[in-house]
Amino acid sequence: MNRIAVLTSGGDGPGLNPCIRAVVRTAIDKGLQVKGVRRGYSGLISLEMIDLDARSVGGVLNQGGTFLGTARSLEFKTKQGQREALRNLNRSGVDGLVVIGGNGSLTGALQLHELNFPVVGIPATIDNDVNGTDISIGVDTTLNTIISAVDKIKDTASSHQRAFLIEAMGRDSGYLALMASIAAGAELALIPEVEVSMDEVIKTVDEAYIRGKAHCIIIIAEGWQPGARPLYDFIKERREEIGFGVRLTVLGHVQRGGAPMAYDRILATRLGAAAVQALLDGQSGVMVGMVEGKVGLTPLEEAVAFQKELDMEICELARIMEQ
Ligand code: F6P
Repeated sequence: MNRIAVLTSGGDGPGLNPCIRAVVRTAIDKGLQVKGVRRGYSGLISLEMIDLDARSVGGVLNQGGTFLGTARSLEFKTKQGQREALRNLNRSGVDGLVVIGGNGSLTGALQLHELNFPVVGIPATIDNDVNGTDISIGVDTTLNTIISAVDKIKDTASSHQRAFLIEAMGRDSGYLALMASIAAGAELALIPEVEVSMDEVIKTVDEAYIRGKAHCIIIIAEGWQPGARPLYDFIKERREEIGFGVRLTVLGHVQRGGAPMAYDRILATRLGAAAVQALLDGQSGVMVGMVEGKVGLTPLEEAVAFQKELDMEICELARIMEQ
């Protein structure tokens, strides 16, 4: 193997730049050349590649986002798009690819592997829903961002004796909302994995008021149904049934940006280095991740077969803390 390429794909998150840096510097250390692909699989199809050396990844450790750019490529989902990408990799003399991203991106990596191109994946998604790794790059920093927002909202919520509905990201996964509710001390987490009716939410808000709480903080995952906005309207219409006034805060894409925290920088560096080593060891169609606290390999097929499930013991822990 002489030359590898690296790309970031799908939704961005803090830690992608440290990961690219680790891939580049490890590859150079092993005598490989490195190409950076711009805008994920889209850049693979339109042949947007740049040469990367140790200096091109200097000063990126503390930068959020991805300096290579990212995209959710619909074209790559087609056979024609994949053939074009493969052709461009071959034309550029690339003999191995590192894909950094979440479920969709790793599915793309598996498809390239099935076309006999050597690929290793690295899990990076704030949702922490990739199977086969304890944690994905970006999760820890995002959780810290959410917690710091909730801490601030709590100040104003207590001053005004209000209930706050706070929407956190997580299209299909309640991980962020659940963990943030534990770490920031919320009265309730609403997540797609657990059904809770709007009447039950009203009951929780009212009980918090009766128990003498100064506020009621409810963290809602984006994917919870019927959704934070309908719940807000429902509660507002029943204002007389609860003691608190109610407000809604949607945290939105603030959660995806910012300087990666120490945990993400180190995780990204370890996984980036391990991915290059895996390619050099002749591995393909695998994902490097944290498996029970250690860097380990999981077949991509297994990693993308289903969405990682939430630990129900954590749900129970959150429930106990909500008193
Ligand atoms: O998959 C990561 C994620 O941040 C989800 O939590 C969220 O629903 C989605 O991406 C938002 O995607 P976009 O940035 O394309 O709006």
